[in-house]
Amino acid sequence: MAEIDRYRPEDRRGVEALYRRVFGHDAAEASRLRWDWQYRRNPNNPAEGPLIWLAREGTAIVGQYAAMPVRLSLKGREVDAAWGMDVMVAPERQRQGLGEMLFRTWDRHVGASLGLGLSESSYRLFRKLEWPDVGPVPCLVKPLTRRALRRPHWPTFANRIVSALTLPVVKIAGRALPLRAHVEPIRRFDATFTELWDRVAPRFDLAVRRDEAYLNWKYATPPHIRYSIAALRRDEGTAGYAVYRHVHEPRGRATIIADFLVDPDDETGLRTLVGWVDREARSADSDKIRCFAMHAGFRRILRRSGYFHVKSTMEFVVKVNALDLPRGFYEERDAWHVTLGDSDQDR
Ligand SMILES: CC(C)(COP(=O)(O)OP(=O)(O)OC[C@H]1O[C@@H](n2cnc3c(N)ncnc32)[C@H](O)[C@@H]1OP(=O)(O)O)[C@@H](O)C(=O)NCCC(=O)NCCS
Repeated sequence: MAEIDRYRPEDRRGVEALYRRVFGHDAAEASRLRWDWQYRRNPNNPAEGPLIWLAREGTAIVGQYAAMPVRLSLKGREVDAAWGMDVMVAPERQRQGLGEMLFRTWDRHVGASLGLGLSESSYRLFRKLEWPDVGPVPCLVKPLTRRALRRPHWPTFANRIVSALTLPVVKIAGRALPLRAHVEPIRRFDATFTELWDRVAPRFDLAVRRDEAYLNWKYATPPHIRYSIAALRRDEGTAGYAVYRHVHEPRGRATIIADFLVDPDDETGLRTLVGWVDREARSADSDKIRCFAMHAGFRRILRRSGYFHVKSTMEFVVKVNALDLPRGFYEERDAWHVTLGDSDQDR
């Protein structure tokens, strides 16, 4: 019978070996590179250290549930929450109930349990355990060139025809937007971003607390990814930010907006920020810009700025334990702010 308890520093090698067996060598190497940052340097970590549970059988580690602690704000009321991630059970011990034990242990210890971008097996386990299913997080794309509409699995001639037919649409949607406030690139977030968060937090029914410490950890210091950060400034102070990066994909280049924040009523602010990202994407020679966004108001502004909804596979589950929620909480998701940068989806 397996026992579940917390991770200890001497477990590191055993966990790495299990990770290699379950996810393969490359994924294990990538995880090893970001492990210290991801699990030890999270500013929301509890005093006892990383929020990781292990399933042990004797001296063997047969399962893990690793979580990323965050403060979750529900209309400005905060609870301790954690994104579930790097969940695994040894192949020969799967489908025997260990996963369920690990998921339940995690859930018992947090004010809200959150999951993003799930694998087929974990998504099914969440369904079986009756977690509220609230996803997927919508995905929007702004095409900048004809190559934006190519599909990796289509033959070349089909891609060429689609490119030719859609050129007029791309030209209109992809036009540059004028900038209406001051935007500047920054390397680190300062205390004015915590002030911005405190001001806008009550406007969101659900969002992870985005304060100075969290933002610097998440976007200024990850060892595996280099983000660009743009700050929106007004005379009154900091009014927003956007975090983005440029990537090579099988059929071209894309700019990904990992995270952003403005007051949901600040249409000019968000349009200014996405206008900045437009310019950056063009100078990086990107074919499109991709952004995941749950908030209905933000999506409306993005659509007015040339973005289109595309199919999203980023499943999202959430279960709030620490508060009594109003009826219909899980169905009313228009004022939830969730992006690709949440959890550890952007790797
Ligand atoms: C996800 C995982 C941790 C679940 O652990 P587990 O010990 O197998 O889970 P349990 O035995 O407690 O629960 C089994 C339930 O999970 C779901 N499930 C687990 N593996 C599944 C699979 N391969 N296909 C479909 N459903 C699966 C089913 O709902 C299943 O219920 P059932 O057996 O009654 O059909 C394990 O399958 C795993 O390590 N998967 C590979 C790594 C992974 O995908 N991690 C998640 C990253 S987000």
